[in-house]
Amino acid sequence: LKHFFGFKYCSSKRASTKSAAAKRESSITKDQYENIERKPFYKLLEERKEQAERSVLVSCPSNTSEKRFLKHMSRHGDINNCFFYESFGTYAVVEFSKRDGVLSVFESASIPNFPHEAAVPFKSRLLSLKTNNSGDLASSQPSVKVLSQTAIPIDELVRRLSKKDSIDQQLLLLTNILQLTDENIRLRFLVCSLLRDIAASYFPECVVRPFGSSVNGFGKLGCDLDMFLDLDGISGISQEKTGSSYSLEYQLKRTSTERVATQSILSVIGECVDQFGPGCVGIQKILNARCPLVRFSHQPSGFQCDLTANNRVAMKSSELLYLYGQLDERVRALVFSVRCWARVQGVTSNIPGAWLTNFTLTMLVVFFLQKRSPPLIPTLDHLQALAGPKDKSIIDGNDCTFVSDLTKVKLQENSDSLEHLLLEFFEFYGNFDFSKLSINIRKGKEQGKPEAAPLHIQNPFQPALNVSKNVNGTQLQRFVSLCQESAWLAQQPEVQSRSDTPWGLAALLAPLDAVGKGKKSKRRRAEAPSARIKGLLESLRTGKASANGGSTS
Ligand code: CTP
Ligand code: MG
Repeated sequence: LKHFFGFKYCSSKRASTKSAAAKRESSITKDQYENIERKPFYKLLEERKEQAERSVLVSCPSNTSEKRFLKHMSRHGDINNCFFYESFGTYAVVEFSKRDGVLSVFESASIPNFPHEAAVPFKSRLLSLKTNNSGDLASSQPSVKVLSQTAIPIDELVRRLSKKDSIDQQLLLLTNILQLTDENIRLRFLVCSLLRDIAASYFPECVVRPFGSSVNGFGKLGCDLDMFLDLDGISGISQEKTGSSYSLEYQLKRTSTERVATQSILSVIGECVDQFGPGCVGIQKILNARCPLVRFSHQPSGFQCDLTANNRVAMKSSELLYLYGQLDERVRALVFSVRCWARVQGVTSNIPGAWLTNFTLTMLVVFFLQKRSPPLIPTLDHLQALAGPKDKSIIDGNDCTFVSDLTKVKLQENSDSLEHLLLEFFEFYGNFDFSKLSINIRKGKEQGKPEAAPLHIQNPFQPALNVSKNVNGTQLQRFVSLCQESAWLAQQPEVQSRSDTPWGLAALLAPLDAVGKGKKSKRRRAEAPSARIKGLLESLRTGKASANGGSTS
């Protein structure tokens, strides 16, 4: 957990040698959790952004010696932090203690000559390490420790969960294994900062900010990188009273609506990213979406990127989820576990479509936790009532105000175990009347549905919008059935008691649809759920059940 809260993971100037997996396995006690100083969201983002601005990304040959590399880079300035990872080759993220380090790198780096091609001379903080004295470097043994930036395969996760002694411990371990590491968060902010450098050619005061699961505390290794181009700092210049009878203002190009302006800005920046951005490939401009965006892959980091503009409301919903995740460690543990379960069961998908999304699932967990007795987390209305004058935020006419100081939020005494909460989650949504009711986390209450969508979750900051508008009846029904089946399964003695075969949460991560594979799907649907689950239990007992074997992403 400490990685997420933005603690410095390594006090020495060298990269940590302790394996990331081992670090992630070590859980902290409840007392330790309660004593961690939790930073306000914007402070955390500002610190990360500033770290990224002092960092460079270097592609290294496979035989690079870590020691020599660090010695070489420290000629440019003191290094605060450095780590290596693999993504189409080996890369190093080097964070200097001052921005001067980056400037010194720029002064010494050369522009390459390509024998049969021409190059766009756009200088960026993405560089390549070249071996000048080939005899020297080639002879050295590679000594780089690379940190994984992807989630472990599901069967490996199931194996490790099965070794734990309680279901509560399993949920906490799953979170520790799947959550973004400190290094991965650094890399995400660095990619935003590299993108900013491109956009800054047109808008020198712009900032590219990450939002969504990269920063809301619910991101899993391998999740996409949602970013927005923030131009608000430009309009924020106040009119100074000079006492003169004249003043000057900029002449600006006008557009009919803000949406048109956003589309044209994204179109031009998307073009720059495509033509000049090193490592940015597969650019797609999706400008007619409700929220226009430019989608591309950033190859050096391996991130799938979505760049939007003028998207402050999404930033507020990221902050809200961050806050809920910080209030009680059970929130993140339950969200991570439900999201992992949903992915394995095919409730969510990597492909956009009528499936539930991770964001929708997170809202369902938040609502469920608000409905506990006593509630585990407060309603958004309560968080708004606790807000101070500095928290006031109105975006496009919507009141997005809520408290930012986490210490002002006093929780009620709810001592439900994670095991109990997971089972109750499945029971709650297995029996929820989705046909009539809408989910409202602002009030922490279900309400009558304002429109006919199969699943209706009111957007907390844009009440006219349904967060889960994309979900169709079939997918919702699948989710409900899988909740019912998982609730039943979770109560079986074979699943509840510790054994050598997958048990507890690990047993729930075996795909229920896999049972009876080969039979016609119609027949399977007609089977009683308990018959299907009995088959799964049997296969768990004989050790034949394996979760789908793929990655958890
Ligand atoms: N968002 C929203 N309404 C939606 C979908 C998305 O407000 N219907 C906002 C949320 O703030 C969300 C962010 O856009 O966190 C990014 O969306 P998405 O990438 O779909 O979700 P993530 O929360 O980032 O989850 P994932 O790990 O699946 O990327
Ligand atoms: Mg996302």
